[in-house]
Amino acid sequence: MLDIYIGCDHAGFALKEILKENLTSAGNTVIDCGTNSTESCDYPLVAHKLCQYLSLKDNSCGILICGTGIGMSMVANRYPKIRAALCTTELQAKLAKRHNNANVLCLGARMIGIELAKAIVDAFFTSSFDGGRHERRVAEFNQHINIK
Ligand code: RB5
Repeated sequence: MLDIYIGCDHAGFALKEILKENLTSAGNTVIDCGTNSTESCDYPLVAHKLCQYLSLKDNSCGILICGTGIGMSMVANRYPKIRAALCTTELQAKLAKRHNNANVLCLGARMIGIELAKAIVDAFFTSSFDGGRHERRVAEFNQHINIK
C-alpha cells in the first residue's frame, strides 16, 4: 500500500474527494494537501505545497487535480524531483509510469468523467517503471539545461 499525496483547486475538489475515498478504502494512506471546498483558490499554491512535501520524500507519489490539469502540471514540473504527467487515458497513465517514471498524476476534472478518472488512477498506481533505456532518458530530464 502507498502513501499518496493529493491536492486540487476548487475545480478539482469534488473529484479529489471521490478519489481520496477510493484510495483510502483500497488501503492506501492519503495525505490531503487541500483545497477543502469549492471556494475559488489558486492552483499554484496547492501544487507548490504538494511538490514541496514530495521533494522531501523519496519514492512518494501524488495526484494533482485542477480544471484542465494543465496548470497543476506546469507548476509541478518546475521541481527537479517531480515528474508530473497530465493524463486523459489509461494508456497514458500506464506509459507515464512505465517509460517516464512519473511520480505525480495530473487530472483535469472538467475534462474527464469520474469513472475514467478512477480508471486512470488505477492504471497509474498499478504500473511501475520499466527502467532499462528509460532510466537514462529520465536522468536526462535535469541535464543539459543551458540557459544563458
Ligand atoms: C480554474 O478556473 C482553472 O483555471 C484551473 O482549475 C486550471 O484549469 C488551470 O490550469
